[in-house]
Amino acid sequence: MLWYGGDYNPEQWPREVWAEDIALMQRAGVTVATVGVFAWAKLEPADGAFDFAWLDDVIDGLHEAGIGVDLATATASPPPWLTAAHPDVLAVEASGRRWSIGSRAHHNPGSPTFRYYADRLVGKLAERYAHHPALVAWHVGNEFGNEVPRDYGAESAAAFRTWLRARYGTLERLNDAWGTAFWSQQYGSFEEVQPARDTPTFPNPAQALDYERFGSDALIAAYRAEAAILRAANPAIPITTNFMGPFKPADYWKWAQEVDFVSDDCYPDPLDPEGHIYGAMRRDLLRSLAGGKPWLLMEQSTSAVNWRPINGAKRPGQMRALSYQAIARGADGIMFFQWRQAARGAEKFHSAMLPSAGTGSRIWREVTQLGHELGALEGIAGTPVEPAQVAILFDWESWWAVEQKAMPARTDYLAAVTEWYSALHELGVLVDFARPTDDLSGYRAVLAVSTTVLSDDAMHNLDRYVREGGHLVATYLTGVLDPAAGLMSGGPLGSLTETFGIEIDEVSPRPPVDQPEIRARLGLSVEVVGEVAGPVGVWAEIVRTTGASAVARYGPGDLEGSPAITRHPHGRGIGWYVSAELERPGCADLLRIVAAEAGVSSTNAPPGVEIVRRGDLVFAINHRITPVRLSLPGRDALTGAATNVVELAPFDVAVLHPSSSDEPGADDDRARSADLLQASTA
Ligand code: GLA
Repeated sequence: MLWYGGDYNPEQWPREVWAEDIALMQRAGVTVATVGVFAWAKLEPADGAFDFAWLDDVIDGLHEAGIGVDLATATASPPPWLTAAHPDVLAVEASGRRWSIGSRAHHNPGSPTFRYYADRLVGKLAERYAHHPALVAWHVGNEFGNEVPRDYGAESAAAFRTWLRARYGTLERLNDAWGTAFWSQQYGSFEEVQPARDTPTFPNPAQALDYERFGSDALIAAYRAEAAILRAANPAIPITTNFMGPFKPADYWKWAQEVDFVSDDCYPDPLDPEGHIYGAMRRDLLRSLAGGKPWLLMEQSTSAVNWRPINGAKRPGQMRALSYQAIARGADGIMFFQWRQAARGAEKFHSAMLPSAGTGSRIWREVTQLGHELGALEGIAGTPVEPAQVAILFDWESWWAVEQKAMPARTDYLAAVTEWYSALHELGVLVDFARPTDDLSGYRAVLAVSTTVLSDDAMHNLDRYVREGGHLVATYLTGVLDPAAGLMSGGPLGSLTETFGIEIDEVSPRPPVDQPEIRARLGLSVEVVGEVAGPVGVWAEIVRTTGASAVARYGPGDLEGSPAITRHPHGRGIGWYVSAELERPGCADLLRIVAAEAGVSSTNAPPGVEIVRRGDLVFAINHRITPVRLSLPGRDALTGAATNVVELAPFDVAVLHPSSSDEPGADDDRARSADLLQASTA
């Protein structure tokens, strides 16, 4: 079954509305409703006074209508009686200020008092509903860490000390790892250690990095506490919580190991011409977090949200296009926030499946159309997406470290990764994300974008990948720090200097007015010729080659002639190093060359168009505001019609059973690579 539905908040509406809700859900093809996310106050209006009667009615009603229930643990926002009696539950900011009530998610999920009350509620829900036939999954909390990513109060201080004891064992090792000889920071006991609260000037970088690790672990621990209760009640029911794509406060690689399936909330800005790339990157990250297994789009909007400075409506078809993008890239369901548009509260201007404009609206027509289409496509559930040939490393520790204060220049890790991802997306190359220590041998090329923190294991893994035939492209700031946020022993890149055949003498970032250009024509072999050109951003490094060839050099300026891009055959593979912060066209130039040399295939889809294969189906999606014609012989999976040429109106989608003679990916890889390069040089 494909999930289709959304957050359902009947507690915010009079009972009279519920029957209409269910009838309209059936009309829209809804298969699952997420119930109870913010219902704590209705389920337990006073301490220990539980009221499940209304929820019984809701769940029974959905079940009778054949709609499954993804039941939330309702712990995403504690009710006022709890915080009034126990203010220690309210989260504390780095400045020491406590949050107040009147919104949502103002609590510290690690607070022992909060845990007592939350776990008690979860226990009651588990006891009552764990064997209800409507239950298809448990939905723990909601977007952990979104409102309050970190807590800095006394209880978190105590938990941090416990975490540090487990990590370091002795105070000597902690003092050593944190370099506390600097600025008189040496600790005489674990009790003296504090959370990474506000400090007058630069905080200890190792302490700050450990607080990110601890904070991420603390969010996971709160999830784990509730999941354990649910699991004990009925191990057959899958448990998840909604992730938020590349969300800095939580290391989702770790968290993905804990859930039964990963799910994501994703809200591309409809007004952003690159919103589809934003979406694709998150779909690919979720598929990677899921280890290639299906994942779920737990929340998206049918149209506008309420939380941007300008909340644009989706254009006709845009919601459908983005939904199919998720299905094509591995989602086994499309869910929305929310079922019925709110009449009150802070989200009243947020779109919903059933808008306040009612069933005469375009949104409703699109919602019912998609529901019925997905009903017809449910055979795709569980099928794998075609294997990606390229991976980009995504590393939360590097993200935390590279954006710390007192670095050589301000960097934006996600923006840098996005730039390289976008260039690959525009080239029609499907991408996985991976960790630096993952087995990368299945990928023809791997990108390490400012993977700043590298362990010895990670460096050995990356080196082995290249020696065994991989094409590794690393960019500035890779391997600058060790896992304790200290300078890498032996200098930037550590042992990877051998892999790349270079040494980095100095980093040399510069302001925008002083940025050089690079230009190079590369002739690697008869088939592989290309050009890398364009301005570079803030980042530059002074690189000395010790075996690599400088394939692109900096143009006029103080770095003139210094290597900007180097290439180093190492074992059976190639180590590329990019010391410059390339802009998108420069990234694309280089990637065309790397892809051609590594034999990476491309869909050659025009800009703004995606073609992705999943299971037996090919999805062609036009995210542009202009029509497009594609030569894609096959049979339309929605209409059954045979096609040779697909004409896609703006935001239109084709789902095809491809003709066997022209299945994407069936072409000779080398020929596809040559195409890729020609497209670049034409
Ligand atoms: C998040 C939350 C939802 C809702 C939406 C609005 O995704 O999980 O409860 O607030 O944002 O876009």
